[in-house]
Amino acid sequence: MADNHTPEPNRRGGRLILLTALVAAVAAAGITALLVNIFERQQEARNPFFRVVEITDETDDPAVWGRNFPFQYDQYRKTVDQARTRYGGSEAMLRTPTEADPRSIVAQSRLEEDPRLRTMWAGYAFSKDFREERGHAYMLEDQTFTERQDFVKQPGACLNCHASTYVAMMRAGNGDLQAGFEKINQMPFFEARKGVEHPVSCIDCHDPQDMQLRITRPAFMAGIRAAKAAEGVENFDVNRDATRQEMRAYVCGQCHVEYYFAGPEKRLTFPWAKGLRADDIMSYYDEIKFQDWKHAETGGPTLKAQHPEFEMGSQGIHGRSGVTCTDCHMPYMRQGSMKVTDHHVRSPLLNINRACQTCHRWDETELRDRVFTIQDRTFAVRNQAMDALVSLINDIKTAQASGATDAQLDGARQFQRRGQFFLDYVEAENSMGFHADQEAMRLLALSLDNTRQGQIVLRNATGMTTGPNSAPPFEVGQPVKPSERNGGGADRKPPAGSGAAKGGG
Ligand code: HEC
Ligand code: HEC
Ligand code: HEC
Ligand code: HEC
Ligand code: HEC
Repeated sequence: MADNHTPEPNRRGGRLILLTALVAAVAAAGITALLVNIFERQQEARNPFFRVVEITDETDDPAVWGRNFPFQYDQYRKTVDQARTRYGGSEAMLRTPTEADPRSIVAQSRLEEDPRLRTMWAGYAFSKDFREERGHAYMLEDQTFTERQDFVKQPGACLNCHASTYVAMMRAGNGDLQAGFEKINQMPFFEARKGVEHPVSCIDCHDPQDMQLRITRPAFMAGIRAAKAAEGVENFDVNRDATRQEMRAYVCGQCHVEYYFAGPEKRLTFPWAKGLRADDIMSYYDEIKFQDWKHAETGGPTLKAQHPEFEMGSQGIHGRSGVTCTDCHMPYMRQGSMKVTDHHVRSPLLNINRACQTCHRWDETELRDRVFTIQDRTFAVRNQAMDALVSLINDIKTAQASGATDAQLDGARQFQRRGQFFLDYVEAENSMGFHADQEAMRLLALSLDNTRQGQIVLRNATGMTTGPNSAPPFEVGQPVKPSERNGGGADRKPPAGSGAAKGGG
């Protein structure tokens, strides 16, 4: 009965007093804990460090910063390490240095792994030399010595993402960053190269006064302003308006993005005025009638997508949940009593414990398998889309050889442009689908649809037989083999039976 459970009024009162006291005590303890926590965080934020040396807005040598921040500097230097994961990391390949290219170690060639890439990019520099990317320590030398340099004379604009350019730009512009940017973009590469010395350095991400994150790349400032405007936010000034959380992604978005060089002034530009999705970028390029190159085998007006990690990241569940690049690629680590940011930027699969398990309770094997499941599926469909594209390219080539006119071919060439861009977008995005798995699949579906439509349009225009590809399709969603679970040693060669063997030129 309810009555039996009703305490006597006086006892109830006594309990209430006791309870109130208890709550107060707990609350006080809680508040104290909170204050201590806030205090600690403020201390952390204020970054009490030993100023061994003075660093100014002109110090681009990371070793000098390293004297004040030895821990971050030591981790930063570890980006020379090369370790391979199933689809990421990189493998150290020995090569014989030459006078033209003094590197004794490079990363593996992606063209050798998948010769279809040569067909996809026929006539463009990427069909000559394209390697797996590796750690930040190599960015300047890899860009300086790539054989793509021999193919077309590269502009200074390449340096925006391959060197510590902040000080060089300020110098070139006499203190005006934008002016320096405009000047260096247009220089011949090897002239601009003389003005820089280091790969991305502390000063490119940090304000030397207070170590706050800051954006130093004019192309990103303009790009994010355009992207925000497309979302209805006018006049976005990234260094004034961005939240700290946003900055933890934006500093990476200065380089890990799709780009092109606009006009004779070779202005590095991020194509985001219509938004950050691949389709928005495609329609932006259509509107300004941009093409990267004319395809050597088909004459198609083609585009090369490049490392759109930032854009893809914005389309995934982690991006949507406010998880940033830094959370996974530069996770916190303990250094004595301090919580510091790991400046050894690398694949999180080499570091699942700190990169993922701070947020997810799944064990390491399970987390790795979840990543592999996404990547294997993406890779399988990427291979199907690649076979289809090679098949369209071969069809256009055949039609051309048998005398088809431009009027008959142009429709199919437009579909080649789209089929290739959407495929290349997923291919060039370096997480093999992980950053935004459904978005990657959507783009591959778009790619396949465009490519197959290209073959139909070509058949209708010429009466010739087009497609399908001769190789048998392979399985989607291949299971993870136990031997590959440690994330190393596996390879990304297309499975037997894909068109790689027959396709590549
Ligand atoms: C939720 C965690 C997570 C977030 C957030 C994240 N990444 Fe990744 N990233 C990964 C994983 C997992 C891989 C796959 C690594 C592999 O295959 O070895 C990856 C791969 C990469 C690679 C290729 C690495 C390699 O070793 O080849 C790059 C570059 C990259 N991410 C950049 C970014 C950038 C830039 C952002 C922010 C816009 C970002 N990532 C956000 C988890 C994340
Ligand atoms: C908007 C920034 C940006 C610009 C501009 C840029 N790169 Fe890169 N580059 C990157 C990023 C990010 C990577 C690593 C990710 C990847 O390889 O996909 C990279 C990787 C590379 C690599 C190593 C992997 C490979 O492709 O073999 C080379 C070489 C390279 N770039 C050359 C160049 C050249 C030449 C130019 C000028 C035409 C240039 N880059 C302009 C951002 C940029
Ligand atoms: C590519 C960008 C980038 C570069 C280059 C870089 N940092 Fe950082 N750094 C970060 C990010 C991101 C954080 C986390 C900041 C935050 O969460 O507010 C950080 C945090 C820090 C902090 C604050 C304490 C901590 O560990 O969280 C220090 C100190 C620091 N970096 C020093 C350095 C030094 C020294 C160098 C050069 C050797 C360097 N950084 C290079 C991106 C960078
Ligand atoms: C100044 C341009 C620039 C900035 C800023 C930058 N990156 Fe990179 N990143 C590159 C280039 C270029 C490469 C490839 C270097 C090479 O292959 O020689 C690269 C490589 C990588 C790799 C591959 C490492 C490996 O071992 O395979 C990862 C992961 C990565 N970057 C993540 C990030 C993250 C996360 C941030 C932000 C905290 C960031 N990058 C900021 C230009 C940049
Ligand atoms: C800062 C926190 C954080 C970190 C670090 C993080 N995640 Fe997540 N992860 C999330 C959130 C939030 C979601 C969205 C689902 C949810 O709200 O539970 C998510 C979702 C996922 C999903 C489901 C994706 C989907 O499409 O439904 C996978 C798989 C995953 N994370 C793997 C990883 C891996 C692997 C890493 C390390 C490379 C990682 N996460 C790092 C917070 C994080």
